[in-house]
Amino acid sequence: MKELIIRAPGRINLLGEHLDYNHGVVLPAAIDRFIEFQFVATTSGKISIEALDLAEKWEFEIAELPTLNVSSWKSYAKGVFLLLDFKDEWPDSFTGLNIKFESNIPIGAGLSSSAALCCGLAFGLNAFYHLGKTRFELAKIAQQTEHQFAGVQCGLMDQVASLFGQKDQLLAFDCLTQEINAFSLPLDGVQLFLIDSKVKHNLAESAYNERRAQLEEAFQKALFLFPELKSWRDINSAQVAILCTHLDVTTKKRLHYVRDEMARVQKVQAVSNSIARQVGEEINGIIATHSLKMQYQQLGKYLNETHQGLRDLYEVSCIELDFLQNEILKNPDVLGARMMGGGFGGCLLVLAYEAFDFSTDLTQLFTQYTQQYGVQATCYPVQISEGVHLVQYD
Ligand code: GLA
Repeated sequence: MKELIIRAPGRINLLGEHLDYNHGVVLPAAIDRFIEFQFVATTSGKISIEALDLAEKWEFEIAELPTLNVSSWKSYAKGVFLLLDFKDEWPDSFTGLNIKFESNIPIGAGLSSSAALCCGLAFGLNAFYHLGKTRFELAKIAQQTEHQFAGVQCGLMDQVASLFGQKDQLLAFDCLTQEINAFSLPLDGVQLFLIDSKVKHNLAESAYNERRAQLEEAFQKALFLFPELKSWRDINSAQVAILCTHLDVTTKKRLHYVRDEMARVQKVQAVSNSIARQVGEEINGIIATHSLKMQYQQLGKYLNETHQGLRDLYEVSCIELDFLQNEILKNPDVLGARMMGGGFGGCLLVLAYEAFDFSTDLTQLFTQYTQQYGVQATCYPVQISEGVHLVQYD
């Protein structure tokens, strides 16, 4: 192969926040914001990678890569190259490689630009050199890159969303069985969009890792008490009550959130199925419209509950997101809103009636927000799109 162009998307997550490393089910989707990569074979004997948006170019020889000290996007690239483990497979035919990429995924907005970078790079190299890895193996490599080269002990949701996303479909990714099932959530008279708070607080990574460690330690205690447990999904209320006598106040709150969120995911899956059925049956008339409306309202309510849980129990929100969430709910056309992703900044996911016009209805809120926090928020419409895919090859 001489040339390859691929796209790797960012993601949203409807519900199931912070459940991917807690044995839960998450409901993400790939979106129409992506990184586009071009891979071209050269005769330089070297690898050159160019981040077009940043006007940065990096050139190295594969043999020297392990010793190179790099940061930002280069650490991710280094991780992917090393973890793909070319040692045996690095083709004799390798003469040189030129990679260029550019992105329209806002960085730091919680839309998983780093997962898109790692997944896109891994997918492209796998295709270019016929390494034969499956999408799931590539997802794991991209996740390991975050663990080992960015210091974030993330779950697998972002990578699965980027690599397995389907147009107009959400994914139900069971992080315990690793099963991935696509499902549709028809948006009939409603819309989903994002509001970027444009803040990203320091220590987000260490706070994320801390949450993960708290729950892992709690699970070890749970296993000690109830050795038959396989995951947080098996624990019953009586066992939780006993376990809680061994946990500190903070960890109890974290566990409380995880259990609530697991239950909410099931409810959201049921509501989504019911909406899809109803829209599919094309039942007309007042009763059907009324019942559909009630189901979207219910969905909005679950988004709000998740926000509260992330704010008060899991404690990964921030004042800027709380302000935006609280204020936007005052608009009667908004059904629900919640912070999305790892937290401590980034985006709110909003469900609103179609009557909500984000080009005018957000003006006052954004002005207030800027006055209060000195930052300019932005709104992004989103379309649910295809996961990592080939655009062109030669
Ligand atoms: C980040 C991580 C994911 C997931 C979310 C929270 O995006 O990369 O693995 O844990 O936060 O749901």
